[in-house]
Amino acid sequence: MKVLTTISEVRSACAAARASGKRVGFVPTMGALHEGHLSLVRTARSESDFIVASIFVNPTQFGPNEDLAKYPRPFERDRELLEIEKVDLLFAPTVEEMYPPGATTFVHVEGMSEKLCGKSRPGHFRGVTTIVSKLFNIVDPDRAYFGQKDAAQAGIIKKMVRDLAYRTQVVVCPIVREPDGLAMSSRNVYLNAEEWKQALALSRALQGVRSAFDNGERGPSILRSAAETVFAGIPQVKLEYVEIVNPDTLDPVCDLSEGALVAVAAKIGGTRLIDNIVLPATK
Ligand code: PAJ
Repeated sequence: MKVLTTISEVRSACAAARASGKRVGFVPTMGALHEGHLSLVRTARSESDFIVASIFVNPTQFGPNEDLAKYPRPFERDRELLEIEKVDLLFAPTVEEMYPPGATTFVHVEGMSEKLCGKSRPGHFRGVTTIVSKLFNIVDPDRAYFGQKDAAQAGIIKKMVRDLAYRTQVVVCPIVREPDGLAMSSRNVYLNAEEWKQALALSRALQGVRSAFDNGERGPSILRSAAETVFAGIPQVKLEYVEIVNPDTLDPVCDLSEGALVAVAAKIGGTRLIDNIVLPATK
């Protein structure tokens, strides 16, 4: 596996791979890799020929009081994991490489970026779409792999790809969970044993929604309250939102017959976690 740090080297390596007829598959990450990230790499490996992963803790998607400084950066371990998965190229740029001094151009998917996590994290999705757009311009992948774990992010990136006519196909892979149901996240390392147990409220709340749905409940507010009840019993967990939305627009849905995304965000101590499930279409 080649490890490259400059835009020009990555551009040449990807162009050479494409010129030799290889399909380029791309997995962008912020590192601190876990099985969720590796599942994206494995899917990429199974359907593309030249696999590029990136590790870049992107400052523009963090708010001023968020965890940019303490975000875990176990680079050597990440490098080894990607090597084992037979990634061809790891792009690990510096902040200066990605944001030259004075950079003032952003990619902003208006509307969707202000929904769900975008409400409490202003500028977050603008940071995500700006960096993903820049990475796409450098790697020019045939396919790029994202996790359903960040369902709003995946929807917003699909919208960006459509609106800006990127040739890249966005592939969304299922959420990988711990055996106890907690969705894997690089931020789970912040949780102590007690907080980990409390964090199970997110997946339990979503399971509560799913069983109400399976029992025939179709009212969005009743389904939401099935989740809220779980949080009401755990005051240490601060529910930020539980929303039932159209995954393509992130707008709340009233009629569940076409399926819906149920997304939840909550804080446990200083750690903000998200999770979601998809309710299937019923018509
Ligand atoms: P990061 O949080 O490192 O996640 C990288 C990719 O892994 C994302 O597409 C995310 O949805 C996926 N992922 C994370 N946890 C997962 C899980 N438990 N199961 C399946 N997939 C999972 O998301 C980002 O980085 C950044 O916003 C990025 C897109 C790299 C832009 O900076």
